[in-house]
Amino acid sequence: MESKVKDPSLAQKGELSIEWAESRMPVLMRIREEFAAKKPLKGIRLGASLHVTKETGVLMRTLLLGGAEVALCASNPLSTQDDVAASLASDGVKVYAWRGQTADEYYSCIKKVIESRPTVTIDDGADLTASIHEANPDFIKDVLGGTEETTTGVIRLRALAESGKLRYPIISVNDAYTKYLFDNRYGTGQSTLDGILRSTSVLLAGKTIVVAGYGWCGRGIAMRARGMGAQVVVTEVDPVRALEALMDGFRVMPMDEAAEIGDIFVTATGDINVIKKQHMLKMKNGAILGNAGHFNVEISLPDLESISIRKRTVRNNVDEYTLTDGRRLYLLSEGRLVNLAAAEGHPSEVMMMSFANQALCVQYIVAHGKELEKTVHKVPAEIDRKVARLAVESLGARIDQLTDEQSKYLKSWESGTV
Ligand SMILES: NC(=O)c1ccc[n+]([C@@H]2O[C@H](COP(=O)([O-])OP(=O)(O)OC[C@H]3O[C@@H](n4cnc5c(N)ncnc54)[C@H](O)[C@@H]3O)[C@@H](O)[C@H]2O)c1
Repeated sequence: MESKVKDPSLAQKGELSIEWAESRMPVLMRIREEFAAKKPLKGIRLGASLHVTKETGVLMRTLLLGGAEVALCASNPLSTQDDVAASLASDGVKVYAWRGQTADEYYSCIKKVIESRPTVTIDDGADLTASIHEANPDFIKDVLGGTEETTTGVIRLRALAESGKLRYPIISVNDAYTKYLFDNRYGTGQSTLDGILRSTSVLLAGKTIVVAGYGWCGRGIAMRARGMGAQVVVTEVDPVRALEALMDGFRVMPMDEAAEIGDIFVTATGDINVIKKQHMLKMKNGAILGNAGHFNVEISLPDLESISIRKRTVRNNVDEYTLTDGRRLYLLSEGRLVNLAAAEGHPSEVMMMSFANQALCVQYIVAHGKELEKTVHKVPAEIDRKVARLAVESLGARIDQLTDEQSKYLKSWESGTV
């Protein structure tokens, strides 16, 4: 099957972009060397649904060098970097992805990946895995396992497992320490602000930024927004997370109140209708709305459309909605992940760790998939620690080693107060 990308002539530009990412992802490049030497994925057909970014390009090339055949589609209709897609297609990956897909096109590309009869899947948001389960193809019994990259996907796949319908084991890459502590927090923190700035070019200092959800992504966004001089307000539904936000020094209030004072709103909850009509009707003229959560359901688009008398695109990734009273609200990247649609997604240095986990988990599934229960598994601790060790080394830092005496002490109960 032929790849389907926007413009194959962009391949050379994509190649440079992937090379740039490779120069910033030493941990994944170390794993690539191991893969190239040992070919642990020989004979494996990989089906992947990921944001087609330059960092994904580095992962795809690593998997190819590991001996796999790879088919790739997007995990969001707006996040594909067309030059990277073209470059990967010229490298021999079967790529079905371009920026600006309709929902039908998006799912037709997932179908193409399914037609490649993958033996291992890599997913981001669980659309590929869910589609395979819905289609129930004859090869599903031969799938060794799959990985899942993000919080929302893990929630969906745990629900599938709990209903007893998960047909092959999944490793939840999102839940590795070396993933969520860094990718979700520092990656989303920086790249979400990057997306807001690239699309709007507004000054953040002095603005009131409302962050909905104080999970790993929300913490990163709040932290970085404060660093740029914004006054940050957090909204939450979980009292523990709310308490944490308060003690981290942020104001916490319900969205109904925050709606009145916010200049910029960012949702990062994985939830639905977090900002809806009742909030929009209270917002200040000129308020900017963006989403960093996986799906475009956190800011209610139907509600925004329903209260607007005019919509026009005023800049790349900025739609202006005029309400009946003349107030204008600005929606970034159609409510889709602003960091990927309006910027380039997470920096390479952080994706290096997420994708090192992906590569090593795929290798683990190839070796052990047949023995794994058909449920959602944690990333094996040895993989998480290996990625951490390599990442610390890559930053030029060194750490202490436990002495024998300390190892023994830390496992004992006998010694107390002295
Ligand atoms: N943009 C990106 O690149 C990127 C990266 C990683 C994760 N994600 C996505 O971001 C979302 C959040 O991920 P996370 O790892 O931070 O999850 P998380 O579970 O750590 O945090 C989500 C938080 O949102 C809160 N929440 C839920 N409903 C809410 C509501 N109605 N109002 C206010 N708060 C609410 C929860 O209590 C929780 O504290 C997920 O959809 C995830 O897939 C996006």
